[in-house]
Amino acid sequence: MGITYIPEEQLFKLDTPNTTYCIGVIDREGFLGHAYYGRRIDNIQGMSALMRIYENPMTPETNARDRLSFLDCFPAEYSAHGVGDYRESSIRVRSAGGHSAVLLTYVSHEIYQGKRRLEGLPATFGDESEVTTLAITCRDAVLGLRAVLEYSVFEDTDAIARSVRFYNDGDGPIYLEKAMSACLDMDNRDFDMLTLHGSWARERHMDRRRVSHGKHAVSSLRGEPGHQEHPFMALLEHTATQTRGDVYGFSLVYSGNFRMQAEMNQFGSVRITAGIEPEDFSWKLTSGESFQTPEVILVYSGEGLGGMSRTYHDLYRKHLIRSPYRNKKRPILINNWEATYFDFNEEKLLDIAREASKLGIEMLVMDDGWFGNRYDDNRALGDWQVNEEKLKGGLKKLVDGVNALGMEFGMWFEPEMISPESKLYQEHPDWAIAIPGRVPGLARNQYVLDISRKEVRDCIMGQMFEVLHSANIKYVKWDMNRPLSDLGSAALEADRQGELYHRYVLGMYEMQERLLAEFPELLLENCSGGGARFDPGMLYYSPQIWCSDDTDALERLAIQEGTALIYPLSAMGAHVSVCPNHAVGRNTPFETRGYVALAGTFGYELDITKLSQEDKDMVSRQTAMYHRFNDLVREGDYYRIASWQDNHLYDCFQVVSKDKGESLVFYVQVLGEPNQHGRILQLQGLDENAEYRLYEADMQGDTEEITQDTGRVCSGQLLQNGGMLVERLWGDFRAKLIWLKRQ
Ligand code: DGJ
Repeated sequence: MGITYIPEEQLFKLDTPNTTYCIGVIDREGFLGHAYYGRRIDNIQGMSALMRIYENPMTPETNARDRLSFLDCFPAEYSAHGVGDYRESSIRVRSAGGHSAVLLTYVSHEIYQGKRRLEGLPATFGDESEVTTLAITCRDAVLGLRAVLEYSVFEDTDAIARSVRFYNDGDGPIYLEKAMSACLDMDNRDFDMLTLHGSWARERHMDRRRVSHGKHAVSSLRGEPGHQEHPFMALLEHTATQTRGDVYGFSLVYSGNFRMQAEMNQFGSVRITAGIEPEDFSWKLTSGESFQTPEVILVYSGEGLGGMSRTYHDLYRKHLIRSPYRNKKRPILINNWEATYFDFNEEKLLDIAREASKLGIEMLVMDDGWFGNRYDDNRALGDWQVNEEKLKGGLKKLVDGVNALGMEFGMWFEPEMISPESKLYQEHPDWAIAIPGRVPGLARNQYVLDISRKEVRDCIMGQMFEVLHSANIKYVKWDMNRPLSDLGSAALEADRQGELYHRYVLGMYEMQERLLAEFPELLLENCSGGGARFDPGMLYYSPQIWCSDDTDALERLAIQEGTALIYPLSAMGAHVSVCPNHAVGRNTPFETRGYVALAGTFGYELDITKLSQEDKDMVSRQTAMYHRFNDLVREGDYYRIASWQDNHLYDCFQVVSKDKGESLVFYVQVLGEPNQHGRILQLQGLDENAEYRLYEADMQGDTEEITQDTGRVCSGQLLQNGGMLVERLWGDFRAKLIWLKRQ
């Protein structure tokens, strides 16, 4: 495994357990070409032919008169700009002379064990026994621009991390106007493109369509990934399913503007480019300075989408999430947002905590509304002082009271924002992002703080630290409730204004890093008006992210399915809330809401003092269920069995422990059907040679026992090939949780 250089063929071979990736250096000029990515190949003799360098048009070395024909079809490892490759470029500059062309060619390389940290950016990690890295240095001699293309392969996971670092070796400044993290050229193999799209309260729905000629992109200019598009793209064979077919995934570890694009050209080849959105991006590199792109994670699966998802889950759980909680059960929390919105005081919170503690809930999270004069969402962001009119006796008294009930305490912040009606804005109006002479647009009646500025970050972090040190606070929900607009920083020179989007993201990362350095044991949950900043970058800081403001069980099935395409269930913030649901007005059974939330971090978002006795009894059983099954849900392998988005009737997914000793099957009958005779579900991931005993979750029983033995024992072979029968349920939105235990 690892990385080898084969000098006779001038090929780099990057191997993961089941995949191979090959890069070639060709021609005396040192063009860097992409030869292969896919199923593992041990003997790669003759591989360079796949770059078509022996066919017409040959390389410039042998056919200089047709240089452009060569450049416009050569499978480039990092595509040039402005010199005759007319497909999407990976880089573009503005030189001292005002020119935009760049052609990076091979200079040297280094292969080393381990992986460097990416300065200022979140990134996957691994020690010397887990990761090998190839660093290829390229140069554009005319510009004096050096680029180091980095590729890290993981010993235990079929993933490759790619990023680029640029250095200005010249005398004058160079402006980077586009700096993608990766480019990949492949022949089209009847590919579909799969992306995740959405809106507020319906994030990350799957969107699959044919790749055709021209450019197909998803992107964001919101300063965060946003609810609408997601920094991910997969190319998959048109016939690929959950279990079969070639799938290539591209997931960007970045929390700002992004662009993921596939372009099919005249010859039927496809170029994927991924990285920071070039529109409104410009970075001044003065002599001797460098610029680091975020990294993109490439995953190839020859076993359909399911294989790709499991690789991302393993990689992100082991090599991206750093939190001390990453392998731990998280406390079951109850959040007061949907219970009270802004209308609460310490008595109300204590009432909720009192009732919650009796039912097995372990933490109270105080949401928006505890600071300044925050009586609604029109004011006070930036004034992070406790409102003692609401919390009489102060924060410590409240936290101590909650602790006395045996519960932990967590709280909400929105550190990147400023309300026009706040003390902070009165003192520092220039701290809001704005363009001189243009009144910036409000959203939720708030502006965005210019956190590219150190003094702004210092002020906010100082306020937060004071609050967090004042009481026993174990959890922070870090929210962000509007996208960026009217980009302008009072602190940046004119020729650096194009840096603001990226500097904003770097500033936010630095703030979260500081928070965790100050409170290393803190459980941090990121959030952005629901799930607008659910991306791999944020997972580096918080082991869980709030998925969506929509907690309706049915909508959540779609949101969580799309999210689980890339992210482990352990990362998905999921709560049980009341009905009619506050986002869609739908009624679903309490039991179903519980199962759907158990497939995430699990918690509650409701006024527990107002629940019926029947629902309260179920809360006790749900919390017990969480303790019984969370290790499996958090650490197991995820299999998608059926999607109600495809069949419009039912949804099913499964989690299997790594040793295949047990499995949980989540089944939701979305619509009841007349004259239906039970459904047979073909399970996956089991030990074919073992027998499993089937238990059903019992949420209403008279005994303490939360699972009931069905008396059925089936072989793994039968459950996978024949299937498992689930009887018809009565009504809509009814659910079953089935636990399989190896005998
Ligand atoms: C958006 C979040 O997603 C909600 O959970 C809540 O925290 C509100 N913001 C508070 O303003």
